[in-house]
Amino acid sequence: MNLQQTRLPLYEALERHRISDPISFHVPGHKSGLILSKEMPVGINRLLEYDMTEVPGLDDLHHPEEAIYEAQQLLSDFYQSKKSYFLVNGSTVGNLAMILGVCQEGDAVLVQRNCHKSILHGLKLAKVDPVFLQPDIDREWKMAGGITLESLQETLSSYPDAKALIITSPNYYGKIQMLKPIINLAHEYNIPVLVDEAHGAHFALGHPFPASAAQFGADVVVHSAHKTLPAMTMGSYLHIYNDRVDEKKIEMYLQMLQSSSPSYPIMMSLDHARHYLASFNEEDILHALKELDAFKDKLRSMSGIKMLEERNVDPLKVTLQPLDGYSGFQLLDALQEEGVYAELADPYNVLLILPLLKKGQSFPYVTAIQKISLALERLRDRHPAAIKEMPSYQLNNHYTKLEYSFKEMGNKKKVPISIVESAGRVCAEMIIPYPPGIPLIMDGEIITNKALSYLRELIILGTRFHGGSSLQEGKLWVYE
Ligand SMILES: Cc1ncc(COP(=O)(O)O)c(C=O)c1O
Repeated sequence: MNLQQTRLPLYEALERHRISDPISFHVPGHKSGLILSKEMPVGINRLLEYDMTEVPGLDDLHHPEEAIYEAQQLLSDFYQSKKSYFLVNGSTVGNLAMILGVCQEGDAVLVQRNCHKSILHGLKLAKVDPVFLQPDIDREWKMAGGITLESLQETLSSYPDAKALIITSPNYYGKIQMLKPIINLAHEYNIPVLVDEAHGAHFALGHPFPASAAQFGADVVVHSAHKTLPAMTMGSYLHIYNDRVDEKKIEMYLQMLQSSSPSYPIMMSLDHARHYLASFNEEDILHALKELDAFKDKLRSMSGIKMLEERNVDPLKVTLQPLDGYSGFQLLDALQEEGVYAELADPYNVLLILPLLKKGQSFPYVTAIQKISLALERLRDRHPAAIKEMPSYQLNNHYTKLEYSFKEMGNKKKVPISIVESAGRVCAEMIIPYPPGIPLIMDGEIITNKALSYLRELIILGTRFHGGSSLQEGKLWVYE
């Protein structure tokens, strides 16, 4: 880091403007919080005083030259990137822009199959020819992991001219994958590696947090700053690391996909989140670790749950698995009844995201532990959901392809047919059993007998699906 990371250029510019008593004859319509219904909470106008537009001195996200330019320079300096950008529409817009900026229509693109929907939407918008790599599955914790080097090797021997490799690490539960050999192998083929690191904006702090994909040579990395840093919802970053990708093209898509009226409070919070990380010192790290460890020690000693503890898991993520046949959803409900709100539940687990505390900051961990204890007592008074084991299923092949291109799919009619008659047809929807959250059948993929027998098994077990709107009526949507 060479720049003065203690600066907060965007906040400083907004504050200079605010205290100059400006008279607003411009957007937004609340006129710096002046125009508000009396029913609105007191204090909201304080935030609205910073909800500005591109007046002189406040720069322009789409043509940054002053405060936003400086703030993005500091961001790039901190993350050691070639160029970094503020995103005001989440990692969603970062994923879309990196795919559209790197891939052309018809390009073969290698994609980790268990990815966020924004990646799938990006592939569709770019009209590429995706090759989906099968991830491994953690059977104990029932979650999808990363791709294997073996899968990548096998896929690259068939697609040596692929135009990008898109991976997601860490997964939602904080598990990272073996990035170094994967990125090196893709680079041997001169294939850029685009990483959705939405959950790892804090990895740049280094130990005890896992290494960021950037340290292993990733070419583009996207971070949801709002997920683990003190940034406002939607605030995210995109970082470009080298010339393997066309910076100008990604930038063009960011301009096309993001609002022409980007939110200053979100951008200010992104400037602040970078400042927060950059000012982390040894003492802060020790404090953060001490608090995290004390909380986890208490959780470890509780009966009725087990906690995911592996070396390759982000310390800010805690996955709890209820024992004795209770489901993750039952534990989530019991926690909520005690006023403890987790990030998510799946049939087997509950995920907590812990705060990134600095020295001098505290979090109500003691109360949380008491409430979690009470929630576990509540749970013991209930009947277990008799949660069933996840059936064992692995696609034999390392990768899969779509039968129709995105363009062809756009022109075809979709019809629902009985699951029994659907073998050999091309599926017209996503069927994603959750967990592990890996699409079992993709929109545009041929429905195989093997996938169908697994689907039947899952339905009998009462598995939840994302997609599969007519599964309950025994139907799948296929292309006519
Ligand atoms: C892995 C992953 N990528 C991308 C996203 C989208 O992020 P955002 O909500 O910042 O748009 C999410 C959201 O949960 C995610 O889990």
